[in-house]
Amino acid sequence: MKDILTAPFMIEMIRTTTNMYNHGWDERNGGNISLLLNEAEVREYLDTDRVLRTIPTGFKAPELDGKYFLVTGTGKYFKNVQYAPDVNLGLVRLTDGGGNAELLWGYSDGGKFTSEFPAHMMSHVARLKVDPENHVVMHCHPANLLAMTYIHTLDEREFTRTLWQMCTECIVVFPDGVNVLPWMLCGTNEIGEATAEKMLTARLVVWSLHGIYGAGKDLDETFGLIETAEKAAEIYMKIAHLPRVNTITDDMMHQLEARFGVKGREGYLS
Ligand code: 13P
Ligand code: ZN
Repeated sequence: MKDILTAPFMIEMIRTTTNMYNHGWDERNGGNISLLLNEAEVREYLDTDRVLRTIPTGFKAPELDGKYFLVTGTGKYFKNVQYAPDVNLGLVRLTDGGGNAELLWGYSDGGKFTSEFPAHMMSHVARLKVDPENHVVMHCHPANLLAMTYIHTLDEREFTRTLWQMCTECIVVFPDGVNVLPWMLCGTNEIGEATAEKMLTARLVVWSLHGIYGAGKDLDETFGLIETAEKAAEIYMKIAHLPRVNTITDDMMHQLEARFGVKGREGYLS
């Protein structure tokens, strides 16, 4: 059996949490990540018959029965993951229709998965329906996207169009746009269900006055998705109070669609 700390998925998770902390997106215990793993890759590092603990999830997700996830722990700081991965991360297998999580590795101080586990698992179910290659759900608190939800309409078309107008390549990176939830109580099954519903039509879901969720095939791609949206929001926050002299027009965006072979969300461009 190989050392799990040498697994590419573990190294990538540690690098990503560290990088997110360094970007200022994950103050204190802010943010959480879940990474879907293949059974074969887990078996290279762990005896999958050796269950350390069984932790109830409080929801059902039969589509994920038997699936393995590497998940950040609740109350844990992204900045500390690199120093103590076995305390701050856990590897679980969902069982009983998603009602229980069998801990195979990690949470070694007696901890458990993120309080946002419902939103993560329900989002995985939604994204896997759209894209079977989706492996990552990522949540964080980037300052500019968060700031934008205080001063910009939360209308999804308007919110998306504003972000697309802030950097030329935004429409190329997230042609599906950004969906937006109103403020809701975090950590609940209700916000999980609402997030998953939004994940059916876009890989980015803003939680107003809280943060953002991103989904993608791997950690790099998902990080890049949030990074691009956050850069656009940063530009918006720099110029929102100033007269706009120039902008990226819908005609320019149609040119980008043609050049990069993407299609902006239906009805979002004129
Ligand atoms: P956890 O520490 O439970 O992951 O919560 C952090 C967070 O960002 C809640 O939305
Ligand atoms: Zn949060």
